[in-house]
Amino acid sequence: GMQTRLFSGGPAADAGTVGSAPALHVLYGSQTGNAEAVAEDAAAAARTQGFAPVVCALDDMDLDRFAGLGQVLIVTSTYGEGEMPDNAELFWEALSAESAPRLDGMNFAVLALGDTGYDGFCQAGKLIDMRLEQLGAQRIVPRVDCDVEFEELAATWIAETLPLVAAVEGIVGDGAPAPAAPARAKSQWTRKNPYPAVLTSNVLLSGEDSAKEIRHYEFALADSGLEYEAGDALNVVPVNDTELVHAILGRLGLDGATVPEGHDDTLEHLLTYNYEITAPSVDLLEEIEKHTGNEELTYVLRHGDKAALDEWLWGRDILDVLLLDPAPELSAEQFLALLRPLQHRAYSISSSPNACDGSVHLTVAAVRYGTDGRERRGVCSTFLADRVGEGKVGIFVSKNKAFRVPADDTAPMIMVGPGTGIAPFRGFLQERRARGATGKNWLFFGDQKRGCDYIYAQELAEFADSGVLTRLDLAFSRDQAEKIYVQTRMKEHGAELFAWLEEGGHFYICGDASRMAKDVDRALHEIVAEHGGMNDEQAAEYVTTLKREKRYVRDVY
Ligand code: 2AM
Repeated sequence: GMQTRLFSGGPAADAGTVGSAPALHVLYGSQTGNAEAVAEDAAAAARTQGFAPVVCALDDMDLDRFAGLGQVLIVTSTYGEGEMPDNAELFWEALSAESAPRLDGMNFAVLALGDTGYDGFCQAGKLIDMRLEQLGAQRIVPRVDCDVEFEELAATWIAETLPLVAAVEGIVGDGAPAPAAPARAKSQWTRKNPYPAVLTSNVLLSGEDSAKEIRHYEFALADSGLEYEAGDALNVVPVNDTELVHAILGRLGLDGATVPEGHDDTLEHLLTYNYEITAPSVDLLEEIEKHTGNEELTYVLRHGDKAALDEWLWGRDILDVLLLDPAPELSAEQFLALLRPLQHRAYSISSSPNACDGSVHLTVAAVRYGTDGRERRGVCSTFLADRVGEGKVGIFVSKNKAFRVPADDTAPMIMVGPGTGIAPFRGFLQERRARGATGKNWLFFGDQKRGCDYIYAQELAEFADSGVLTRLDLAFSRDQAEKIYVQTRMKEHGAELFAWLEEGGHFYICGDASRMAKDVDRALHEIVAEHGGMNDEQAAEYVTTLKREKRYVRDVY
């Protein structure tokens, strides 16, 4: 494990090194806080090696200052399908520009976090790593790319990279490798040790006629000591659907009671608790293609592009692939080797701890689809909806420090959160009320139909009545002939929205990344241009400044 050696940091341990210690910049690009946490770990370890580490987001470092640094460690995740995380976007824009300065005097190392389940695995880290080399910087160690289970690789990278950085600085260590364990005060509840929480509430929010099944969940924190803030994400460790486990075992003709070689649990247990059994890996597809010679699958794997493969996979899960004829002949061990480890799912928390003492809330749409009589069920969303029973649910928090109510209680807040995108803003409104914050609050919410999709209507009405919610604009897309979206409402009230920004307002988006967030971003640019009397370039600069000032932040997925 990674917690092999703990050590104490703190001011006392630092004394004496500050001032004479060489600076080491540890820069991160982080969307959900993982890369930031690794950067903090690296800094804590660096401190014990005699460095004075400085940790900051890539976007907080302007390129001229960056170019003057001697040694730099970069930890970055990749967001979505190969994009830079929000707090590395501006940095990358500058670094990738033709005008970027030479970096001949710089030494660097890059740790990339990613998810092989997405296109553009570790793309952000790869791009930065390549570009730094192009600009003349020296790579101290080859880049390391981590998949979702990044902890051990990251700890190893820290332990192996620091001595090399120290050697460059002429710091002679005691020969001991850098400690692999972080000094930061961590919650005891982690991915490897989630808190077993009691689910005290599971309420259907959406109406019967809705195209969605949106549910409200509450978990009791009891004496866990689990801490969170409005804007954080809650990770939920799912348990797979027994019905699906049995269907897969049946198709493969395997006995769930056998203990596969190299494992300590039965096959049924492993498939239930340890492996992803819905989305097929490319390895699994390749194996099944080899075995079945299925023409369509052969085509999309061998001749199609990624889009063709995605299209073929749309709506198909592992069982669908296994159901291709002839039935695959795989041993338990062979089958497990084609599966990915079961991952926790992260959801935006929809409560504030200062309003909901002793509990944490989620607002989640249960994913169900299927046209051929078999219902495909989203792993974690239907675990929460259907399968928790009397059991406990493993949870832990991911900090999202960038996604917070304004530190200034008087600053206006504009929130765009259609559908389940409302989740963090329910938490924000609770938080602002609990703080007695006097700043104005404006929520744009929407979905398909008011009658069945207006979730938390009662609570929002109360926020409006009590004056916490200054403005509430609703956009129901299917209650009339033409589409009305949240960005339609934004533009209708563009003058006022711009005025709020001019008063120091903070702008937030939560929800669908692929279409909504992009269109809302475009609408924001248009509003700034129109009501600020700016051309496109000036409007873009205005929005960039909002981002730099951390007054434009997103929680999109
Ligand atoms: P529609 O499906 O009726 O087109 C939540 O899914 C809501 O987001 C729905 O009302 C949906 O409308 C709407 N929606 C779809 N595409 C959108 C986009 N590009 N921007 C904003 N909202 C969108």
